[in-house]
Amino acid sequence: MGDKNATLSVGGNSYELPVFEGSVGPDVIDIRKLYGQSKMFTYDPGYTSTASCESALTYIDGEEGVLLHRGYPIGQLAESSNFTEVSYLLLNGELPDKETLDKFNWTISRHTMLHEQLIQFYRGFRRDAHPMAIMCGVVGALSAFYHDSTDISDPEHRRISSHRLIAKMPTIAAMAYKYSIGQPFLYPDNSLSYTGNFMRMTFGVPAEPYELHPAVERAMDRIFILHADHEQNASTSTVRLAGSSGANPFACIAAGIACLWGPAHGGANEAALNMLREIGTPDKIPHYIERAKDKNDPFRLMGFGHRVYKNYDPRATVMQKTVREVFDALKVDDPLFETALRLEELALHDDYFVEKKLFPNVDFYSGIILSAIGFPTTMFTALFALARTVGWVAQWNEMISDPGQKIGRPRQLYTGPTQRDYVPVENR
Ligand code: SDX
Repeated sequence: MGDKNATLSVGGNSYELPVFEGSVGPDVIDIRKLYGQSKMFTYDPGYTSTASCESALTYIDGEEGVLLHRGYPIGQLAESSNFTEVSYLLLNGELPDKETLDKFNWTISRHTMLHEQLIQFYRGFRRDAHPMAIMCGVVGALSAFYHDSTDISDPEHRRISSHRLIAKMPTIAAMAYKYSIGQPFLYPDNSLSYTGNFMRMTFGVPAEPYELHPAVERAMDRIFILHADHEQNASTSTVRLAGSSGANPFACIAAGIACLWGPAHGGANEAALNMLREIGTPDKIPHYIERAKDKNDPFRLMGFGHRVYKNYDPRATVMQKTVREVFDALKVDDPLFETALRLEELALHDDYFVEKKLFPNVDFYSGIILSAIGFPTTMFTALFALARTVGWVAQWNEMISDPGQKIGRPRQLYTGPTQRDYVPVENR
């Protein structure tokens, strides 16, 4: 932490506030003592200028379109790493050597099964339940089964529950899909990779062996890497806030899943593909771009814009490249990809989007890939939640391990009625 100070002058008073420097990125003004000194709050409803915590996990430079996980650029990780290695990196801070990675993979693969009674939870849902509704319910219910790893003050409990969550999300997500199509659940096969195991549980059937195209396995694993963590986004902040009360990790991750579901956040991948389907052909694009610019029209270009990125989301760059790899591998094509490319080109040459620095984000192209692989749009956000679980768990561990950690309790600007006396109903 540096020794710079900020001076705030208000109401004839001046307040000296410490300024802290990170290893990279904006400095922060420490306002923890501001209310005590000034009896005033700061005001930042959408947290547009607020750092909620100190973290060493992920760094985003929104102006430059840079995303680092423990210092490693997302493009390098997507190109050369794999999801369980990135998971180890996020959890532990360093890339593992081969022996350590093999041990981590062994540990994760031995937590992939669910307690057999959890299967009953699925039977309580309608077949057409949204997979995110099932994920919220089943993940929250894990705390009813794994009492032996919910003492958050015990690092060993935190380690086991972290591994359980990372390992069981593919099983839970695959079962949500199987349930929705009336097919039997498949148990995990620990001889497969993390992603290969997920794909078999999702698209395999008991009646025959499941063959997965290596390029599709690689693409899915890369998509998981691209969704692993992303600083203090809405769902991660939800997990941190839930965890700050001492809630068990399964409940905290269920809270993160609920927040991710929103179309402004993780639900945008489903919304973006539905939008492309509604647009249909490139000749319809100008009409939708005009709608997106119309303040009186609630329509927005889904998969476009970002609170932090005011440049191209580096994940979207990798995602766009991956579309072509999957199309080539599966020998498929989807005219919506051309529509998406044309929409991006027209939007990025339109003053409205240029001035507001609205670029494609991670959700713009992902749906085209997932649809080509065979996922229904309703599964897209469940896949996002599957991958983001390692980020949520790593951020949760970082918060719980912080000796200065306190329960999160924001204040407000109150604009309601001032005190008044109760009036009995007969006198109103
Ligand atoms: C994710 O935070 C993260 O890191 C999230 C995420 C992660 O990995 O965790 O990256 C994942 O959630 C990506 C974002 C997915 N959401 C979408 O694609 C939905 C469409 N995008 C927008 O809803 C919006 O861009 C947000 C929610 C992503 C960001 O909203 P902000 O930062 O609150 O910005 P804003 O709504 O204040 O927009 C600024 C201006 C506004 O115009 P003005 O009021 O200033 O005139 O840009 C406009 C907005 O109307 N605008 C858009 C737009 N996004 C913003 N106009 C048209 N289309 C859009 N997509």
